[in-house]
Amino acid sequence: MSKIGFIGMGNMAKALASGFIGSGEVEGSQMYAYAPNQDKLLKNAEEIGFIPLKSASALVRVSDIIILACKPDQIKEVLEETKDDLAGKSIISIAAGWTYRMYAEIVKDVRIQCVMPNTPSMVGEGIFLFEEEGNLRPDELDEVRWIFGTLGLVVTMPKNLMGIGTAISGCGPAFFDLIMEAFADAGVKYGLPRDIAYNLIAKTMAGSAKLQLVTGKHPGVLKDDVCSPGGLTIKGVVTLEKNGMRNACIECIDAIMKEE
Ligand SMILES: NC(=O)c1ccc[n+]([C@@H]2O[C@H](COP(=O)([O-])OP(=O)(O)OC[C@H]3O[C@@H](n4cnc5c(N)ncnc54)[C@H](OP(=O)(O)O)[C@@H]3O)[C@@H](O)[C@H]2O)c1
Repeated sequence: MSKIGFIGMGNMAKALASGFIGSGEVEGSQMYAYAPNQDKLLKNAEEIGFIPLKSASALVRVSDIIILACKPDQIKEVLEETKDDLAGKSIISIAAGWTYRMYAEIVKDVRIQCVMPNTPSMVGEGIFLFEEEGNLRPDELDEVRWIFGTLGLVVTMPKNLMGIGTAISGCGPAFFDLIMEAFADAGVKYGLPRDIAYNLIAKTMAGSAKLQLVTGKHPGVLKDDVCSPGGLTIKGVVTLEKNGMRNACIECIDAIMKEE
């Protein structure tokens, strides 16, 4: 098993590190992390079980596979800081907007794979978009796909679709959280205790998603199945449409794609 090192230990890295160790497939003693705020890093190390390190260069030296998990605008600085130790290593980048080509222009003699994860990986329900273009050795790619696969679904994406894939599955959890919160507010308005409201909505969302995944039915057909003529559900559906729900979703993705 390769030694895995995280540069950056924020929300996404914590989701991955705790997921990898929690899956039982990766030992904490084989996992390292560096982040500038050492107090926070030590606390996370105690909670998650990885080995904390004091510098990005020390982390690169000790790791076989380096997961770059800092913010996209910090990547150049990290590459500059670690350039003397990077030769011959493999980098897995999870930074939004960074592609294999962008790395290949900056770092030489380093193998790169760009992966777009999402936070449900924390509970083994993640999606990992693997950019089709990359130069890991085949055995490394197999290992990395297998490790990520312990936390969810691994999908190979053509490089021109990584942006829209990121908008949907990388950013998506926030949108569904917002929808969950909005319906729970409505439930509370009509007397549901807050915890029960979240439970009902979350389970309904997860169940509806699973029904679509398992049956492969068009979402419109599944919606029709629930809407009896003159019934309650169609009144709710019409009201959502009247308030521009479909357009709000499309414009939400437009706003992200404008930044691409
Ligand atoms: N959050 C998501 O849902 C999500 C989904 C898909 C992809 N991503 C990608 O994951 C990456 C991390 O996102 P995040 O949400 O986890 O961010 P975050 O919570 O803000 O974490 C950023 C991490 O980077 C560290 N850091 C800051 N400056 C650094 C430097 N110079 N060298 C090394 N580490 C540095 C921070 O350390 P300190 O706290 O010690 O300052 C922190 O641990 C981003 O590139 C993002 O595009 C995130």
